[in-house]
Amino acid sequence: MKILLTGSKGQLGKALIKLKPPYTKIYAMDRSNFDMLDIPSCLKSIKTINPDWIINCGAYTNVDLAESEEEIAMKVNFHAPKAFAEEIKTLGGRFLQISTDYVFDGEKKIHTPYLTSEKRSPLGIYGISKASAEEALEDIFQNSFQGIILRTSWLIGPVGKNFLLTILNLHLKNKEIKVVNDQIGSPTSTFSLAKVCWMIIFLKEFKLIFSQNKNRILHWQDNGETNWYEIALKISALGREIGLIKNNPKIIPIKTSQFPSLARRPSYSVLDCKLTKSLLNYEGMDWEATLKEILKKMEIDDKNSYSSKSKFK
Ligand SMILES: NC(=O)c1ccc[n+]([C@@H]2O[C@H](COP(=O)([O-])OP(=O)(O)OC[C@H]3O[C@@H](n4cnc5c(N)ncnc54)[C@H](OP(=O)(O)O)[C@@H]3O)[C@@H](O)[C@H]2O)c1
Repeated sequence: MKILLTGSKGQLGKALIKLKPPYTKIYAMDRSNFDMLDIPSCLKSIKTINPDWIINCGAYTNVDLAESEEEIAMKVNFHAPKAFAEEIKTLGGRFLQISTDYVFDGEKKIHTPYLTSEKRSPLGIYGISKASAEEALEDIFQNSFQGIILRTSWLIGPVGKNFLLTILNLHLKNKEIKVVNDQIGSPTSTFSLAKVCWMIIFLKEFKLIFSQNKNRILHWQDNGETNWYEIALKISALGREIGLIKNNPKIIPIKTSQFPSLARRPSYSVLDCKLTKSLLNYEGMDWEATLKEILKKMEIDDKNSYSSKSKFK
């Protein structure tokens, strides 16, 4: 099976490559050979490769900067996937679009996870760009079995820019770490998500996804609801338990209002994953367990910062 993977040097892209199933050839695309701002050139590559699947992990993911770089964010997150989806539909392949909890405003009551069918209501440019792509893809694939949107949230892994690496590195420098405790969601390991992507692609009863789910949307997160402050506490405790962290800075809970940022974030973004679990016959793991697995893959490197233990950089 031929897979064209965009954003292959991003954190999810790398996990997908790491967990590549047998008999799968990945065409690993990144900015150097597949600049998503140059859509005509990307379309040429898609035609030449003629993949069975495109997994679209390439994205403009800087949520705050997107507020001032709207045009770029919209091109990468909306116009490019829309054009790729149209092309793959014509070629007869399939498209897996990775989307986000930021398509929602987070105004729901806690303990009422978002269903795949709930109305999108993004708060900022990043969310708008990803929600616009979802709408376009639903439209393009409405009468076919060729497109799936997989929403996820709060990705963490041993490489790239993510909350886990930020908190680990703050342990090396700070005596105090302030973390918001009023945004509720579920962290998701890049490895859990990559595993689920491959399960979807190789699902025998693939067409069931569409009979049970008219809008072609699936959700995936690791299990459990939490907040960033609790995750930071857990990173600190587990890190010390496995001997990765030596320092013990004070972790202090703060409110989002005390940590001003350019973009607003949803205050509640737990996604209901029941449908995906039943389709894949897979329950997933609790976020604490996947966090521990990631921490075991990490070390302090010679630059005196935390990074992946393996060559998986
Ligand atoms: N991170 C999260 O917490 C989170 C949560 C929910 C959903 N998601 C979604 O999950 C997917 C994967 O996210 P991630 O965390 O793996 O993001 P990431 O680490 O930022 O990776 C995104 C990749 O896209 C590439 N990219 C950006 N602009 C590009 C362009 N013009 N042309 C080609 N490639 C370009 C980036 O390349 P450069 O490194 O060169 O910029 C990067 O390798 C995205 O669709 C994201 O929206 C992420």
